[in-house]
Formats: sequence, structure tokens, C-alpha cells
Amino acid sequence: MNSVGIDAVAIHAGKLRLDLAETFAPAKGEDPEKYTKGLGLHASSFPDVEEDIVTMGANAAHKLMTRKGLEPDDIGRIDVATESAFDNSKPVSTYIAGCLEAVFEGDFHHANKGERKFACISGTQSLDDAYNWIRAGRNRGRAALVIATDTALYARGDAGEATQGAGAVAMLIAEDPDLVELSLEQGFGSADETDFLKPNQQFPSVDGKRSVQVYLARMREALEDYESVAGDVRAEDFVYAPFHTPFPGMVRKAALLAYRHVTRDTEIEDSLAARIGRQPRAEAFDDEDAFFESVREYMDALKETEQYQEWYEQAIEPTLDIARHVGNWYTGSVHIARASALRNARENGIDMAGESLLVGSYGSGAQAEIHAETVRENWTEEIDALDIDDQLAARRDISFEEYEEIHDVHNHDKEIDIDAFTTPSEEFIRDGLGPMDERTYRYVE
Ligand code: CAA
Repeated sequence: MNSVGIDAVAIHAGKLRLDLAETFAPAKGEDPEKYTKGLGLHASSFPDVEEDIVTMGANAAHKLMTRKGLEPDDIGRIDVATESAFDNSKPVSTYIAGCLEAVFEGDFHHANKGERKFACISGTQSLDDAYNWIRAGRNRGRAALVIATDTALYARGDAGEATQGAGAVAMLIAEDPDLVELSLEQGFGSADETDFLKPNQQFPSVDGKRSVQVYLARMREALEDYESVAGDVRAEDFVYAPFHTPFPGMVRKAALLAYRHVTRDTEIEDSLAARIGRQPRAEAFDDEDAFFESVREYMDALKETEQYQEWYEQAIEPTLDIARHVGNWYTGSVHIARASALRNARENGIDMAGESLLVGSYGSGAQAEIHAETVRENWTEEIDALDIDDQLAARRDISFEEYEEIHDVHNHDKEIDIDAFTTPSEEFIRDGLGPMDERTYRYVE
């Protein structure tokens, strides 16, 4: 069996932009640096009036299929990962397939379609499903389309409001892929948690502070599980570590813990010992509180070392470049972190062919997954084809009042009729409701 992985990727960002420092912070009476420095976010992307999870997903998939010269017959599976679905029965993938059938010759009648749910990790779980389907030999030579699409909106006034975002990532999963090969080994950290949930409601109920702790705990479990099959992970094993990024500050916390873990019992720990001591080991303490206090002191000192800061700048910071300007895309978030890292490598002339990524996905509720990816020979072509910078630059800036209007437009409990802020061109838009109250779509030339 040839290698299996991501052959191509296309991204669609919501077409509106809310500036957090200039627009959101003054309206909330907050210091702009809480967002830019604390959370690490500069702006959020929002869907315009005629955009939703279907149009964003279909636009990303359309771009990907056109660029790769694919027809519906080439696709044997369409999985949509989302936590913003508006129908408890009919999956978003059917709407997206319907959109695509309006512009491509042929149809997807023989493609298996579904919708995956486990908060933000379901995008990665859909990659898994596609990978397993291909490796099982059930794909009849066809590829799978995985689309992670979300409008990550919080109730107004919720602490999560600053981390909102909207966008879609379409990925083609195939044998002998052009972008990255997925490792056979993977690790999980999974537990019944109530950190973030939407019990039949559109906007999440969130215990924000707890969600941060759950993210860290499950990631750590997943890393240990991954190591149990792949061997110890060391800092030099991977060039970048793209992680689920609800906001860059979250990844900053995870990165410090990860660095402590991957440098334990290594030359790096030895080389730091003279300056900050060795890492505290639980067995050396009678009292758990004293151990945790000692770990906190070590981490504070580790954060200030040149070794850590250099590693962070090189392996983590580049994964956050896109997230900073778009906010949380839930299921798509870890997949824009990968794109962001590889785009950085391209800009800096780093030859990534054959190099590794350590990918950490997370979904509230809660589950983390860690796997490795090996970058393929043709990766540069795929990364050069990304048009995310143009999309971000073309977004329409919205005022705080316009933000409130657009938030209401996308609130399922409200009926707001306003004109779109942007003029659609060569894209799918939402254009109303059909006889069974189903959403309807059309392609605008
Ligand atoms: N200058 C610089 N930094 C500042 C600052 C200022 N003026 N003011 C505050 N900060 C810092 C704070 O110190 C804090 O950083 P540390 O955590 O490193 O100390 C950071 O900015 C945020 O400040 P607060 O903690 O006071 O912010 P908050 O309480 O208003 O909200 C949050 C933070 C609870 C995470 C909130 O954004 C939230 O609820 N988000 C949604 C939930 C979420 O994203 N959780 C992440 C894990 S769950 C997950 O990953 C799934 C998912 O996608 C949702």
C-alpha cells in the first residue's frame, strides 16, 4: 500500500473582519492588549449575510476540485466535520454535494456522505475515517473529500466572544499524497468532560477556565499514548507542531508543557540544569502540592530560557500566523495551523520534504489526538496554491454595530433582514428557504 495522507488543501475564510484591538476592545471597555497579547488574537473572521457553513465548505471544496482537475466521479466519500450544523438529520455534506453538482459535470450519487461530531476534533476524526477507508481498500481508486466548516459564534457577552471566527478547510485524502503522509501511529486522551457543550442550543455553554485545563490534560494524555506506540518524542523529531488553536495563547500554554515533556532526560535538560535546575520528579516529593509548586517554578524559569524561546519561535509561532487574524474555526483550526506552518516554511526557504510535523488535535467534551505527518516532495506546489493571504486582505472591516447586526443575522432564533456587506462573485451563496424550510443555495458567476 502506498502512503495515505492529505493530497491537497483549500481554505475559505468568512468575508467580514472584526478588529479586536481597534473595534471590539473599546466597545467592551477592555485593554486591547488583553486580546492581542493575552489571547494572541488580532481579528476575527465572520460570515457575511449570504454565507454559512455550507457556502464556506462548498467554496473551499470547489476551489480544491477545480485546482486539482477533479470531477465528482473521482470522489468516493464526502465527510463534513462541524459543530455548527443546523439540521439534526440531513447532513451538511448533502447540501455541499448539491452545491458542487450545480457547477461540475456529473454527480456524487455513489459517494458515501456523512457528518462527524466531536467538537473541534471531528475534522481530524474525518481524516482518520478517510485514511482507514483508503487503507482498507474500499475506495475503488477514489479519493475522499473532508471539509471542516464552522461559524464559531458565542453568545454576546460570553468570555469566548473574543475568540469567535468563521471559515472552512477542504482537504483531499488520497493514496500517494502531494502534501503530507499521516502516521500509522496515533495517541488519544479522552474523558467524559463538561467543559464546553451545546445541549440543543446554538451558542455554547462554556466553562472557559476549566476548558483550558481540560485541553492541557487531554493533550498530555494523548502525547503519552502516542509515545507508547511511536517511542519517545524529542524536540528535534519535528520541525513544526501545529496544534488546535482556539486562540494562540492556549497553544502558548500547551507548548511550554510540551517542551518540558520532550526535553526530559535529554541533553537539553542537562544543558539547562546549571541555570534553572533539573525538572522536578514526582518521586522526589512526599507532598503533591510541593511537587506542583516546584513544577510551576521550573516552568516559569524554563519559559525565560533562550533554548525554549528559540524552539517556540521556530516550531510553534509560525503555526499561529493565520489563527491570529481569523479567530477560532473549531473543526478547521488545527488544519489552518498546519497550513500556516508550511506557508512559513515556504516563505523562509525551509526544505520540508521528508521532514515531520507533530499534530495535536482537540475537541471539548473531551478528546485530544496526536499523530505525526511526513511532508511530501510536492508540498511546495500545494502551499503556493493557497490564496489565504488574498482572502484575508480582501475582507470587509465591520464596525461594532455591524458586528452586532451580523451576529444577529446568524442567530437561529432571530429573523433579521439586512443587505450583505460584500458583493458575491464566483462563489456559492445562501439564497433563502425551500418548501420544507430547507436552506437553499446558488452559485453566483
Ligand atoms: N495585557 C496583556 N495580557 C492580558 C491583559 C492585558 N491588558 N489582560 C488580560 N491578559 C491576559 C491574561 O493574563 C490571560 O493570559 P494567561 O491565561 O496567560 O494569564 C489572557 O490575557 C486572557 O485573559 P482572561 O483569562 O482574563 O480572559 P477571559 O477570562 O476573559 O477569557 C477564556 C479567557 C476563558 C479562555 C475565554 O476566551 C473563553 O471562554 N474562550 C472560549 C473557550 C476556549 O476557547 N477554551 C480553550 C480550550 S477549549 C478548546 O480548545 C475547544 C474550543 O475550540 C472552544
